[in-house]
Amino acid sequence: MHSFCTKNALIGVLFIYQVTACDITATLTSQTFHEIFAQFTFHNNTKSPIYHFDEDGKTENVHITGMFCNMKPTKLDVYSISPTATTKPNGTSQAFIEGFGYVNYVLLSDGVFMGMKAGIACAAGDCGASRG
Ligand SMILES: *[C@@H]1O[C@H](CO)[C@@H](O)[C@H](O)[C@H]1NC(C)=O
Ligand SMILES: *[C@@H]1O[C@H](CO)[C@@H](O)[C@H](O)[C@H]1NC(C)=O
Repeated sequence: MHSFCTKNALIGVLFIYQVTACDITATLTSQTFHEIFAQFTFHNNTKSPIYHFDEDGKTENVHITGMFCNMKPTKLDVYSISPTATTKPNGTSQAFIEGFGYVNYVLLSDGVFMGMKAGIACAAGDCGASRG
């Protein structure tokens, strides 16, 4: 009886881990000649550093990991001026994401959107044109 309960608890923990954990490489790619700035607000409410883009095609890689990545949305804001705490973003991409894989964000001076992705489950937001 005792070991039966322990085994069920263990299966429960493994199930939650599989469903909600994430290890995601996000690639941010500027597609504008304008100077732009981008910042993530992660699922755990912390913010990334502010990434600075000053040429078309410049990319930055951001690693997103965690246990409960889809409890809160992952948000990416883009700015045309160096942002302070009160600066309004010129564009935002926000969605609940989780999984083990890769996602690309395309940054413009007046917007940001999710591009290609692989291995990522995405819901309730900007999830790009393709599913999966
Ligand atoms: C929040 O998540 C980000 C992205 O995975 C990670 O870099 C950061 O260390 C986390 N912060 C805390 C306090 O767990
Ligand atoms: C971005 O937002 C700032 C401040 O709200 C505004 O002055 C600027 O014109 C916007 N830039 C673009 C490209 O929309």
